[in-house]
Amino acid sequence: PIVYLNGQFLPLDQAFVPVLDRGFVFGDGIYEVVPVYSRLAFRIEEHLHRLQHSLDGIRLDNPFSREQWIELIEELIARNDGEDQYLYLQLTRGVAKRDHAFPKEVTPTVFMMSSLLVHPPQALVETGVAAVSVVDNRWDRCDIKAISLLPNVLLRQTAVDHQAAEAVMFRDGILTEGSASNIFFVENGVIMAPPKDNHMLPGITYDLVLELADAHGMPYEIGKYDQERVRRADELWMTSSTREVLPITQLDGQPINNGKPGPLFKKMYALYQDYKA
Ligand code: PDD
Repeated sequence: PIVYLNGQFLPLDQAFVPVLDRGFVFGDGIYEVVPVYSRLAFRIEEHLHRLQHSLDGIRLDNPFSREQWIELIEELIARNDGEDQYLYLQLTRGVAKRDHAFPKEVTPTVFMMSSLLVHPPQALVETGVAAVSVVDNRWDRCDIKAISLLPNVLLRQTAVDHQAAEAVMFRDGILTEGSASNIFFVENGVIMAPPKDNHMLPGITYDLVLELADAHGMPYEIGKYDQERVRRADELWMTSSTREVLPITQLDGQPINNGKPGPLFKKMYALYQDYKA
């Protein structure tokens, strides 16, 4: 694969960052993950908008205009194989002598890579995945897509240790999101979602799901929902740019409803596939 690093396109195995990069030393940076379908970056305006929100959140100036980003992203897609790809974009505060406070003059490190997009296997869509519930022990700026992902990494590993695909997080007993996804549930025909506040990442897929629900007369409600309600849900879903929409059919070893993907999931999945195409 060909990657972009600080003004250059080069092979992945020739891309290096100095060890004093603040991303390496402090996790001082932000990122985006953008799916590419048929060589077109999906919902790119929304992703660039969220990138700006993350940069503002860590007080790092955006080194590029919207047009420059689009141009670089198009070139990265063109230089890589695969009709469907996923892009990883990362900016850190750059290379400087180790000191917690911001360095005075420093150039941000900009890195972008493309990987082949592996679509969630049909079997997962048909049977659903297992998840575990965990305590959301992250900080209170989860709206920033920060590269410092230690809580997410540890919680996802807890899920994997339990043969599960995702960890569903609860903060003070209230549903927030998954370790790398947003979470929805269905109750009496209504799609239920946590609010886009500082306790979750505002997912691009999350917005699309609600947009599709609106456009197709599927009722939804945004609110704060406790663990008991989620366990008793008729359906449970996870969403992300790489996993699209997937049904969670088991939570902590117990089936959600009858343990099968529900009718609203099937409808939303079909709407999402149509929209993508
Ligand atoms: N993660 N919440 C968290 C904590 C996430 O890391 C992600 C995505 C989402 C879903 O956002 P979106 O729909 O915009 O992908 C929610 C990406 C895929 C990742 O870290 O690889």
